[in-house]
Amino acid sequence: MNTITLNNGVEMPVLGFGVYQIPEDQTEQAVTDALAAGYRSLDTAAAYQNEESVGRAMRNSGIARDELFVTTKLWVQDPGESNTKRAFENSLKRLGLDHVDLYLMHQPYGDYYSQWRAMQELHAEGLVRAIGVSNFHTDRLMDLITHNDITPAVNQIETHPFHQRQADHDFMREHGVQHESWGPFAEGRNNLFSDPTLTSIASAHGKSVAQVVLRWLIQRGVVVIPKSVRPDRMAENLDVFDFELGAAEMALIAPMDTGTSLFFDHRDPQMVSFLGQRRVD
Ligand SMILES: NC(=O)c1ccc[n+]([C@@H]2O[C@H](COP(=O)([O-])OP(=O)(O)OC[C@H]3O[C@@H](n4cnc5c(N)ncnc54)[C@H](OP(=O)(O)O)[C@@H]3O)[C@@H](O)[C@H]2O)c1
Repeated sequence: MNTITLNNGVEMPVLGFGVYQIPEDQTEQAVTDALAAGYRSLDTAAAYQNEESVGRAMRNSGIARDELFVTTKLWVQDPGESNTKRAFENSLKRLGLDHVDLYLMHQPYGDYYSQWRAMQELHAEGLVRAIGVSNFHTDRLMDLITHNDITPAVNQIETHPFHQRQADHDFMREHGVQHESWGPFAEGRNNLFSDPTLTSIASAHGKSVAQVVLRWLIQRGVVVIPKSVRPDRMAENLDVFDFELGAAEMALIAPMDTGTSLFFDHRDPQMVSFLGQRRVD
């Protein structure tokens, strides 16, 4: 599996499997199929409420723990380091693991300084190999970097052809934060899978639109975690290492950027309030 090296030396696969919105009763089968297809990096979260199924599928696969790269995420907590540590213990228990490879703060909301301090301690205790964030705009990221000991290893943000995040990408690269895409296919919005530009590039390579999008992200240095419940698509989404997009093709995709989210803005006050009040653990 192709990997990148995070800012603390940990190796992370450039392509993994995301399990958001897979219903709890389908997650074990989906992860079992994904592991059989060859995925070794899994992306879940306390908020997805399917960590137990991910854990069962990993255990039943017989794949050695050190061959897997497991990411989970901390949901917004009440203030105080102890709440984050308790939430982490709950995730570990649900996953059935003694450590995770990457622990991400899911949202830049609430008392996230105490959350980050607790995550730094979990890292120092060897319970998480790397810590990072998700959905952080560059101003919040800079603030976190400036006032804490550990620079996040990863920032997982919405990134796809309609929201390319080049300025965020450049900022993160400058500060040693690995860019990870969520929603690489924009969950199919804007008719991504039948987009004429992507379709014509795909047919030139004998590949699918999904494969072109993943290849485009990986060539930009972005880690990807596509989701599918279908084994044929799982295999298709993994099969992106035998072709390369040329500079002219990359240039054709660049103007597809709309510069805005296709989901919601993490700085929208209503969403800040709504998500900030939700509790998971
Ligand atoms: N940090 C965050 O706030 C955040 C937010 C959202 C997502 N994420 C993470 O990012 C992962 C990926 O994002 P996402 O799940 O939102 O969306 P996505 O990967 O952009 O899109 C998933 C959709 O694309 C379809 N699909 C997958 N492969 C396909 C293919 N080869 N051809 C045609 N359709 C295909 C899937 O349908 P089928 O399943 O029916 O194949 C599903 O409807 C998540 O699972 C999660 O781990 C994180």
